[in-house]
Amino acid sequence: MGLKFEVLKTSDGGGRRGVLSLPHGDVQTPVFMPVGTAATVKAVPQDVLETNGASGVGARIILANTYHLYLRPGHELVRRMGGVHKFMGWDRPMLTDSGGFQVFSLSKLRKISDEGVEFRSHLDGSKHFFSPEHSMDVQIALGADVAMVFDECVETPATWERTKQSMGLTHAWAARSKERFEAEKHRVPWFEERGGQTQNLFGIVQGGMYADLRKESAERLVEMEFPGYAIGGLAVGEPREVTREMIARTLEVLPKDKPVYVMGVGYPDEIEEYGKMGVDMMDCVLPTRAARHGLLFMREPGSSTVVRMNIKKKEYAEDQRPIDESCTCRVCARYTRAYLRHLYSSGEALSAVLNSIHNLAFYLDTMERVRGELAG
Ligand code: GUN
Ligand code: ZN
Repeated sequence: MGLKFEVLKTSDGGGRRGVLSLPHGDVQTPVFMPVGTAATVKAVPQDVLETNGASGVGARIILANTYHLYLRPGHELVRRMGGVHKFMGWDRPMLTDSGGFQVFSLSKLRKISDEGVEFRSHLDGSKHFFSPEHSMDVQIALGADVAMVFDECVETPATWERTKQSMGLTHAWAARSKERFEAEKHRVPWFEERGGQTQNLFGIVQGGMYADLRKESAERLVEMEFPGYAIGGLAVGEPREVTREMIARTLEVLPKDKPVYVMGVGYPDEIEEYGKMGVDMMDCVLPTRAARHGLLFMREPGSSTVVRMNIKKKEYAEDQRPIDESCTCRVCARYTRAYLRHLYSSGEALSAVLNSIHNLAFYLDTMERVRGELAG
């Protein structure tokens, strides 16, 4: 085994405060997971990422992507380096996405069949093939604490028929993912070092924007018995009410004693809302990607309303205040808006570093407050 999920307290809205125990440590939930696509949370050093409190971000679990690490530097190289934890110098929990979603969103000339997906690399155009079995082999070589089944995320908008057909493929691929995973899981790089523990494979619920398909997908995956369940295919351009509705309908079906992970969300107010609905894990590139574009999250003074500040604006040129007066991060403790604007306008490398640290601290602080409220 390698996973234990303990629900400490459930609140009226369905939100729960819990602890997820994984081979590389414990994670307090609900949790936001910074995205480290290529075994790096862009612009943020690992020690800053893991340090708690005013000097760091306090991340407890981060993501990496199978698609990217398979293409570069290659999963066999990562395996030879002892797995992704040792390779990147990160000794806390990690999760890898399966590659399906990235193949669909990044690669060129995809050819999909029941067997898998043929695609061309976005890096050099070279030809590759991903199947559920291959995704499992790659994820086991990488050795994150949590691996994800290989799925298809249907394009939006999609008809009910098209969504149903795609969902069927995802279910077949989930079963094949599980079969390969069970047969090969002992090959994870840290199997012996961690006393025979293995990774944990999560299923992914699809079903597009159709409540009946979401229900069917969740039921089908629950029958297959995974240690945790993700809700995929959301935040792909649909209105916020639809995202909320699909999450709510799916949560009704999923078992209450297993962690639930909503993939690829969202804005600070969304992660707060979904956390209070009973979602235990979330990830999104938004805080780090926005940071590199000079977009900084902050709360309006004296209110809980979240706004995005565009640091390149002229009005900040001589602004002596920190990004957010109420933020306790190391960036807000030390630097002014005027300086951060200067760094951004000058294209300085430090701009991405400082902006990313603030935005991640803001996101993790948001979840910390949610956990506090759920603990009541
Ligand atoms: N990331 C965001 N959405 C998805 C999804 O539907 N599937 C996978 N595998 N990853 C995602
Ligand atoms: Zn800050």
